[in-house]
Amino acid sequence: MKKTILITGGAGFIGSHVVRLFVNNYPDYKIVNLDKLTYAGNLTNLKDIENKPNYEFVKADIVDADAMNSLFEKYQFDGVIHLAAESHVDRSIANPMEFIFTNIVGTVNLLNAARAIWKDNSEGKRFYHISTDEVYGSLGETGFFTEETAYDPRSPYSSSKASSDHIVRAYYHTYKLPVVVSNCSNNYGQFQFPEKLLPLAINNIKNNKPIPVYGKGENIRDWLYVVDHVRAIDIIYHKGTIGETYNIGGSNEWYNISLIHKLCEIMDRKLNREPGTSAKLITFVKDRAGHDLRYAIDSSKLQKELGWKPSLKFEEGMEITIDWYLANEEWLNNVTSGAYQKYYDNQYINR
Ligand code: NAD
Ligand code: TYD
Repeated sequence: MKKTILITGGAGFIGSHVVRLFVNNYPDYKIVNLDKLTYAGNLTNLKDIENKPNYEFVKADIVDADAMNSLFEKYQFDGVIHLAAESHVDRSIANPMEFIFTNIVGTVNLLNAARAIWKDNSEGKRFYHISTDEVYGSLGETGFFTEETAYDPRSPYSSSKASSDHIVRAYYHTYKLPVVVSNCSNNYGQFQFPEKLLPLAINNIKNNKPIPVYGKGENIRDWLYVVDHVRAIDIIYHKGTIGETYNIGGSNEWYNISLIHKLCEIMDRKLNREPGTSAKLITFVKDRAGHDLRYAIDSSKLQKELGWKPSLKFEEGMEITIDWYLANEEWLNNVTSGAYQKYYDNQYINR
């Protein structure tokens, strides 16, 4: 194997797509997937590649500094693609501490462990930190987030990610650790845990349950198909300039309520229901505390400098995603049972 690369959070939604792409496209890289397997981590996401010779899974917690130092010492990683995080805004409002531990302390532990093994020679090494556009805060009706937009995070989730972004950049400036950062807009696609808007709505429509829309559904998000995010990660990992940040986005803004109506239309067609049937399930519920109004990304730096652009039209990505959720009932049933169900009840039933 030419290189050994650590991917953290590889059993989660985006991480599993990153692991799959790297294992399949780079047979001469050894890919080590490190994941704590929280409620959001699911190894069945990786069934198709788990027996490949260049893949290994390690169950560990990035908050455990000793475990991270031993792991880096043992594998002598050439690169790190760091996705492990607590990722759901509503959970961060209910329980911020997990976000502080994993997203901030966990990231610092990885930086320290990388620094320890690369301190004498960091030639060809790379620490790639995956982050979110939510660190920039909330836009009004106009404008876009660029790489120069000042950070203004407003939820415990986004502020923990912002904090980790700052520390990653501080390690570049202070210790010359070879880092690169990207900030991406909302992802959708296969294997997304059904606490996030789209898979939650697909699952509820399928089961004839109410579709909870926060407030009046007037918030706006910029949606990107997960595989296009992962294509960007591949390009940035290999070609991005050390010390730089790249914004990734779909140039695809939707009001939440318009997105849900679009989804209902497609679901009626797929489930052979009368047009308008699914939309009757739309239920306006209490708004999220501190709900950011609008996110929109300017990804022109990535497009111009590294030649990336989204490969799929939104309608195509939605068709693929919905077909996958409808065909993978067993996956959905597994992740919506047990711990997730308890969380779901606290979030939507008992409040
Ligand atoms: P996810 O919640 O689906 O997956 C997170 C993974 O991290 C899970 O497998 C979980 O088990 C693992 N994990 C959590 N705590 C851990 C710990 N302490 N130690 C080791 N592993 C741990 O999240 P996702 O949506 O795939 O997001 C992945 C990354 O991308 C995150 O850093 C997130 O901030 C970022 N991001 C997500 C989006 C999005 O729309 N989902 C957009 C932009 C950026
Ligand atoms: P989410 O998928 O949680 O992503 P984020 O908060 O990171 O953007 O939510 C997307 C949008 O959908 C956001 O504006 C909140 C809204 N939303 C609902 O209206 N109802 C829901 O049940 C959920 C989970 C989200």
